[in-house]
Amino acid sequence: MDQFKRFRNRRIDEPTRERFRESSLCVQDFILPLFILEGDGRVEDILTMPGVARRSIDKTVDYLKPLVDRGLESVLLFGIPDKKGVAQATSDNGIVQRAVRVLKRHLPSLEIITDVCICSYSQDGHCHIGDNDRTARLLAAIAVSHAEAGADVVAPSDMMDGRVWYMKRALDAAGLSTPILSYAAKYASSFYGPFRDAADCAPQNGDRRGYQMDPANGDEALEEIAADFEEGAEAIIVKPAMTYLDIVRRAREAYPDREIVVYNVSGEYASILSAISQKLLPEGALDELLLSFKRAGASRIITYAAAQWLQR
Ligand code: PBG
Repeated sequence: MDQFKRFRNRRIDEPTRERFRESSLCVQDFILPLFILEGDGRVEDILTMPGVARRSIDKTVDYLKPLVDRGLESVLLFGIPDKKGVAQATSDNGIVQRAVRVLKRHLPSLEIITDVCICSYSQDGHCHIGDNDRTARLLAAIAVSHAEAGADVVAPSDMMDGRVWYMKRALDAAGLSTPILSYAAKYASSFYGPFRDAADCAPQNGDRRGYQMDPANGDEALEEIAADFEEGAEAIIVKPAMTYLDIVRRAREAYPDREIVVYNVSGEYASILSAISQKLLPEGALDELLLSFKRAGASRIITYAAAQWLQR
């Protein structure tokens, strides 16, 4: 080798760096998760997630309007019922079903994705009612009820086997073509803590390792993803995001034309945001984090930071 390659001329100033940039962030990349409370006029800050609150439906509409004006296109709804009980999860009058109808009326352009799980409804905070297949059938009924209320996309986050299979059949039987965005590779992670406070869904006994994936496994994530696509999922989620970028990359390589979504979960958000607020990290750390998801191959990012990103 009698010559070396020069790279620094790509970095001499911002316009040049922009020309060489391989990935970028834009408003269309973001899906904002929302915690919906019963009642009216309620806004409750979540202490472990700076800048995030749980809101009743009316307050959610007020909160969303300026964000939609700034370009927000998509939200993911989590319903938090006042009283526990799995039956209301399929009720046409349930908190998610009502929220979907009101949001569709006030913000018709907004894509509404609903989280399909029972952990905020069940007495023990688990994502199942014991038997796998009985749970999968219940989840399918919940998905149908969300879709009937007008949800654009249903997103099962429980990690039961075959839930996409049951869900697809139930939606077809109801004459609905609502796409399924499945949490296909969802790990039993330590990064969900703040969410469990927010959604009031911490397991009352044991943990979720009996159904969520073992953090040590990568090949298995590809099996889970393949199974969900075969069962009829339109798109899939890798969750968490920060510590599973290898899975995002592998999923992208295996499915170059599919929508691969990452979920930048509550513990990731809380750690970065609290480090920024304590000045341990500069503001730019957030963009660097979000960009890493895109660079790894994510089509879109579910993140609580979407609101901050839009409000700048
Ligand atoms: C429950 C669910 C969880 C999250 C989304 N759906 C928590 C869990 O599995 O324990 C976590 C999201 C986050 O941490 O931001 N079905």
